[in-house]
This record gives sequence, structure tokens and C-alpha cells, in this order.
Amino acid sequence: MRRDLGDFQTPPGLVSAVLDRLDSLGISHPRVLEPTCGRGHFLAGLLDRPGPPREIFGFEIQSDHLEAARRATSAAMVRVVLEQADLFATDLGTIAWRTDGPLLVVGNPPWVTTADLGRLESQNGPIRIVVEGMTGLDARTGRSNFDLAEAVWHKLLTELNEPDATIAMLCKLSTARSVLRWAVTTARPVASATIHRLDAHRWFGAAVGACLFVVRLGSVRSCDRVDVYPDLVSDTPETTIGVVDGLLVADLAAFERTSHAFGQSRLVWRQGVKHDAASVMELTEIDGTLRNGHGEVVDIEPEHIFPLRKGVDLAGRSVTSRGRSVIVTQRRLGEDTTALSGRSPRLWAYLNRHADIFKARKSKVYAGHVPFAMFGVGDYTFASHKVAIPGLHKGVPFQAIGTEGGRPVLLDDTCYFLPCETALEADRLAGLLNGPEAQSLIAALRFPDAKRSITKAILQRIDLDRLKGAVELGGPGS
Ligand SMILES: C[S@@+](CC[C@H](N)C(=O)[O-])C[C@H]1O[C@@H](n2cnc3c(N)ncnc32)[C@H](O)[C@@H]1O
Repeated sequence: MRRDLGDFQTPPGLVSAVLDRLDSLGISHPRVLEPTCGRGHFLAGLLDRPGPPREIFGFEIQSDHLEAARRATSAAMVRVVLEQADLFATDLGTIAWRTDGPLLVVGNPPWVTTADLGRLESQNGPIRIVVEGMTGLDARTGRSNFDLAEAVWHKLLTELNEPDATIAMLCKLSTARSVLRWAVTTARPVASATIHRLDAHRWFGAAVGACLFVVRLGSVRSCDRVDVYPDLVSDTPETTIGVVDGLLVADLAAFERTSHAFGQSRLVWRQGVKHDAASVMELTEIDGTLRNGHGEVVDIEPEHIFPLRKGVDLAGRSVTSRGRSVIVTQRRLGEDTTALSGRSPRLWAYLNRHADIFKARKSKVYAGHVPFAMFGVGDYTFASHKVAIPGLHKGVPFQAIGTEGGRPVLLDDTCYFLPCETALEADRLAGLLNGPEAQSLIAALRFPDAKRSITKAILQRIDLDRLKGAVELGGPGS
């Protein structure tokens, strides 16, 4: 199995459950496309059912899988064209169909993210091309978790020029949601769509939210609401998700009841500091001395050391939050760090002793930046008061944070915060954000199963001025 090709063949039992679901939706089609057909489980499943398609096209990059797919479909009495091809190098608009009528695109495109591919250091040529092709988007959206399946959806929704087509593919829930948002914001011709959850652990041994995402093409503008069903058999949706003003909304019914404060925040939410060199940059006070993650005693100019709270500290799940601090190499984004050699020679020597750790930082954001660069630095970082929330932990209230030992407390990049000028302002903001209006709005917007369930995009859409009891707001860099 090629992990870098997102290679989880769909078990026949799941194929059957998916095809039953499509039958019950009244979806039957003379033409079928399986964009990444693997060993042909979907195609064999379709051919085994009453009223099979009249013509099938399939693409697969791996020759042994393709051979298996050919064997699985060899007894078919209909035209089956299976090609060894890289889907991303294939123009789907030029497929030479001989049959007319509605098209069904069915399958299970690769479940692998650009971040996974980076970790796997895939040498696979076509995949590498796709990843390179996605770098621009990655850079624009700041996302390193763009899924190859998402690229397949984009390709289908861009290249299929079919007035009557249904796309029904297995994918992560997060992929389906991103595709929905993208389809709405780029006005893809989606007439309607449904999401049917499935148990990825049962079928693939994968601990991830997964679904059958069914999209019917048709109208000129994309539909912006999607019913979500709890499983493949249920006919009653558990919720309706949607896209409102460019933002994905987890529960449209709840949103419609609580959208009073939905708008644009006048204040800019910030993310905490990012450095990707925790073993050198984060320090713990042990018996009165500061030590780094390697256990070394760190003796540098104290003005570069700030108290640090991580998301796990705000969530109350850490015993070591007191005494945790972080080294700051820049006061603003892009500041020239070489000036530290004269101004702070002990810090400069310390950083250079650990230069290999900074050079090994994998994230692309550091490329082309000065040595020892950080992100999330600006006036706002050093505000003496903040109201903060962790992005990765659920059910944690907004917290007012003040100074410690006369120094501003910094947050890590799993946290979001608003800088405040006074303790009173931070308290009031925390009160407003923890109040019923803001909390119900956040509950309607956030996806509880998402890894980062609180995002900057959500926070930025809370119009604090519309919350009851709003006060004069402002703060450094806000
Ligand atoms: C999740 S598996 C699913 C296979 C099959 N659709 C099924 O449902 O059983 C994804 C398949 O995509 C194939 N694949 C990955 N990248 C591809 C590409 N660029 N072009 C064509 N096939 C690709 C893999 O080899 C693998 O067989």
C-alpha cells in the first residue's frame, strides 16, 4: 500500500452501503466515472447491481491496482475504459464518451494532506507536481492540510461540463466542508448537496470524521446549505451546515436563531507566537534557573524572555504553566535579527549554538526570512493585557490575562487573543465573550469535531459592538 498515494481501497461492504444510499436517492446513471478507481471495487459493485451503467471510465495511477480493476470488470457486458493515468494530468472535459445521459462520478479519492506528503517526502512525480501546483493556494490560504481529495473535488467541479451529473465520493468531513465553502465562494454550478456520515474507524481503521459527500451539478450558482445525515441509511438529517457570507456555519438553524451579533469585529484577533523551535525557545524555571528543552541552563539578556501561556495552560490541562517562558528574537515581523549580535551578545551566541534546530524548521513560512525569525510578533504581542482563548481545546472560556512579574504574558500559536490596554477592558471583553449571546453564536458557527474548533475566522465574525453590554473597546495594535 502506498501511503503517499492515499491508498485505502474501499471495502466491498462499504461500496454496497454507498450504492444502496445512491439508489435510495433515486440516482442511477448510464455513464460512470471513477476518477481514482484503485482495484475497481466501486466499478465491480456497480456492475453487479440491477440496471448497471452502459459506459464506464476509470483512472488509476498504480499499474497493479489497474490490473486488478481490469480483472474485476472483465466480464462486463458494457463499455469499460480503464486507463493508467495521473488524474491531475488528465483533462476530464475531453473524455470520449459514446453514451449520452446523466453522469455519475463515484469513488474514494486519496486521503492524504499536503502536510502528510511533506512528512512522507513523497518521491512520486505526479503527486509532487500536484503539491507544487497547490503551493500557491497553500500560501494564499495558509493551509498546510490541503487534502489531495480536495484537489480531486476542485478538478471535477471545474472541468466537468455536464448539465446533469452527480458526484458521490467518500472523503473526510473536513474535505466536504472545505469543498462546500470553495464551491460557494467560487460560484461552482452545484444544484444541491448532502453529507452522509460514516464510521471511518470501522471501515478504514482511521480516526477521522468521514462521509459520503453527494453533489448534484446543475444551476449556475452554488447552493449554500447542505443537510447532514448521521449515517448512510438515515433519511432524517441531524443538522444543516452552510456558508454564510463566506464563512462555514456548523448549524444553520441555531445560527438563524442567534445571528444577531454576526458581523465583522472591529478589533483584530491575533494568534500567539510561532517559532517551531520549542526545545530552544521555550524555557522552564527549575530551582530558580531557566532551562531549555535540552535541560541546559540558559543565561541570556532578560529583556528577551517573556512569560508564556500555551493553549494547554489556558485549558487548565498543564501543571507546568507557572514558570514557563519564551525567548523573543523580534519585536515585529521581519525585524533584522543580526542586530542582536551587538545588542544582546549572550542571546546571539545562544541562538547560534542552536542554529541547526532553527535551520531544520520544516514550515515553509521561515524560508527567505532572517535567521531565528518568529511569527505572531507585533505591538499586540506585548500588550500588557489580553483576552485569550485556546483554538484546540473545547469548552474553555475566554480568559483575561494580565502581566506576570511586570512583564506581558505571551501566548503560543494555538491561542487567539485580543490585545487590551487595561485589566478592566480585558475583564469586560472576557465577560461579553463568555455571555450567552456570543457563546450561542460561537456554538452555531463552530464544528465541534474539527481539530481547531475555534478559529480566527469565527472570532473575527463576532461583532462585539452588537453584544448587549458592549463597552468602549480598543487596544494596542487593534
Ligand atoms: C483511497 S484509494 C481508493 C481506491 C478506489 N477508488 C476505491 O474506492 O477502492 C485512492 C486511490 O487513488 C489512487 N491515486 C492516487 N493518486 C492518484 C493520481 N494522481 N491519479 C490517479 N489515481 C491516483 C491510489 O493509487 C489509490 O488506488
